[in-house]
Amino acid sequence: MNSSEIKTLDKEKIVSTYARYDMAADHGKGSYCFDMDGKKYVDFTAGIGVNCLGFCDDGWIRAVSAQLSKLQHVSNLFYSEPQVMAARLLTERTGMKKVFFGNSGAEANEAAIKTARKYGTANKGGKANKIITLKNSFHGRTMAAITATGQENYHKFFTPFLDGFAYCEVNNVAQLKEMADDTTCAVMMEMIQGEGGVLNLDAEFVKAAAALCAERDILLIVDEVQTGIGRTGKLFAYEYFGVKPDLVTFAKGIGGGLPIGGVLFSEKTCDVLEPGNHGTTYGGNPVACAGAVEVLKRIDEDFLAQVRQKGEYLKAKLLAIPQVKDVSGIGLMLGIAVEGKEAAEVVKDALAGGLMILTAKDKVRMLPPLTISYEELDEGLAVFKKALG
Ligand SMILES: Cc1ncc(COP(=O)(O)O)c(C=O)c1O
Repeated sequence: MNSSEIKTLDKEKIVSTYARYDMAADHGKGSYCFDMDGKKYVDFTAGIGVNCLGFCDDGWIRAVSAQLSKLQHVSNLFYSEPQVMAARLLTERTGMKKVFFGNSGAEANEAAIKTARKYGTANKGGKANKIITLKNSFHGRTMAAITATGQENYHKFFTPFLDGFAYCEVNNVAQLKEMADDTTCAVMMEMIQGEGGVLNLDAEFVKAAAALCAERDILLIVDEVQTGIGRTGKLFAYEYFGVKPDLVTFAKGIGGGLPIGGVLFSEKTCDVLEPGNHGTTYGGNPVACAGAVEVLKRIDEDFLAQVRQKGEYLKAKLLAIPQVKDVSGIGLMLGIAVEGKEAAEVVKDALAGGLMILTAKDKVRMLPPLTISYEELDEGLAVFKKALG
């Protein structure tokens, strides 16, 4: 099929939940993607933070293919080696105790929410089920995750939403203290609000929230679905904030392109869920876990230092562009406030010029593969400058 045939069939046959960009992807290698007509693009999106090793990385293909020809799936009623290997790497690297594997970010957050509710009702007199999340947050599209999402825009349809969620203003310690009461089982937040416009939380707020949680026996859930797995130059972004969460949710980058997500549990939470409380057929699938093992082995301390350096390089180059007003984010998760042109228009023109980028609210968002080279960053930046007009 050519691009135009695919687009026509897509409009006819696929439910239009996505406002697609005008490109049909055919194949990719590293930081480059090629469309069905053979046009080449520099990729600053990584599949929205998923392809952390770029397109079709050789080592990742070897790891995943080897597992694929050995055992593609076995039910969670049985043990499997890739699952425990991925869990061991995650826990050893973080000091967390145990892992639950699901398939996506929303599912990871569902598992964390259920854990918090069970913890709250079991440990706090049977009545603590309220979860405080932040305004402008994004936690996914399932009913609990969308309820947790603190944006009115997502609460327009699909009523009734779940009871027991409350939304605190970002960085407002006083309000958080006021809202946290005996019915609260958890406080949930992203360290950098990704979909909300790549907004870094204040370290003082995060620290105060963690202290409040510890003092009141409230669980701290950190949603690292977008920020995690090296995206910010640390394995998880909470490391920058000096806090120890009780539950950490992850997805996106962990599988390097395969659908996998999950939750990391601390000492306090690791035995809350028991057989029958939660599960999912595909969670911890051996092939997805083989991808995760490869990703986790590759993202070592040296690799993370390089992500931080590349992030600083990209940020400095962006700030030197006259139309760029501000750059937020950390590492290779950057939000760019531009002037003179709408972010959506910049994204469109960049694509036409051969660069894939994203928006986040009214900003341009860049999430390049973590393996991107400095030359490829420069190549993308040149197209970006032209797209700014
Ligand atoms: C912070 C955060 N949480 C949760 C999600 C939902 O993840 P998924 O789309 O894999 O369900 C996203 C997706 O963008 C996200 O950025």
